[in-house]
Amino acid sequence: MLPWTDRKGQISPLKLIVFLALFGPVLWVAWQGWQGDLAPKPVNEAIHQIGSWTVRLLLISLAVTPLRSIVHWPRLVDVRRMLGVGAMAYALLHFALYILDQGGDLWRVASEIVLRIYLTIGFVALLGLVALGATSTDGMVRRLGAVRWNKLHRTIYLLTVLSLAHSFLQSKVDVTEPVLMTGLFLVLMGHRALHKRGFRGMASLAGLAIACAVLTALIEAGWYAAKTGVDAGRVLAANLTIDISMRPSMWVLLAALALVPLRFLGERRSPTRVAQPVARPSRA
Ligand code: HEM
Repeated sequence: MLPWTDRKGQISPLKLIVFLALFGPVLWVAWQGWQGDLAPKPVNEAIHQIGSWTVRLLLISLAVTPLRSIVHWPRLVDVRRMLGVGAMAYALLHFALYILDQGGDLWRVASEIVLRIYLTIGFVALLGLVALGATSTDGMVRRLGAVRWNKLHRTIYLLTVLSLAHSFLQSKVDVTEPVLMTGLFLVLMGHRALHKRGFRGMASLAGLAIACAVLTALIEAGWYAAKTGVDAGRVLAANLTIDISMRPSMWVLLAALALVPLRFLGERRSPTRVAQPVARPSRA
């Protein structure tokens, strides 16, 4: 089966679009490199951009199941595996660029991974993603059985936490992106928890949006206070104004609130039907 075909072997427009879109970020980085826009340290800049995209793709793959149930669109699950494998490919590219940055000296790479905790964490996350990628074929799903496969693939949540920790720890001063990604991850995990307990309405989603935005602001303020000594009150206050820039908590609030109208549309599309479980192993 080709990445863009469905189980009947026919071209799936959804899968084709997602497949092509997965090449977008890497082509964009290559284009910037070609244009000299990654100077003065092109490889290091590429490491950063590809690393950021790895985390974004991880979150996008984790968003598939919540979105599927919010908008009542079961077919969305068809692209989840592709997105997960895409995240793994970006992680491998990120690592390959790091090796290149170290002049291909594998001994040095290994010792850096052992010595620097943020690299150790990143490497564990990478190994985990490769393990999940290697077991995502239909054959491996059959061989492991649905229960064991699901159990193994639930480690994706832990791997995402490790990826977020790696990106926080490597940040020098600005943690805007890691905070934003953490906030969005909280939304996805919060949705999973609410969904499991039967809270599936628009009010629950709105409550989740507010709770995650507040938590995101607290994480940002806590991080700056601990790392740089900046007054947490001032960081929190910056979350209440958009004079300077939108803080991550505001983006999290907007992104999570966008789920409310989506839910409304989903209910209109299929008012009585609850998203059907798929026969394939699932991860939320
Ligand atoms: C799943 C695995 C990984 C993910 C999701 C990931 C993600 C990230 C992210 C998001 C950043 C920050 C980008 C930015 O804010 O601009 C980053 C930076 C970085 N990562 Fe990773 N990473 C992973 C594994 C690794 C591994 C295995 C290595 C090398 C052993 C590595 C080396 C680096 C380096 C060197 C930086 C830049 C640090 C600096 O310039 O000081 N990463 N990574």
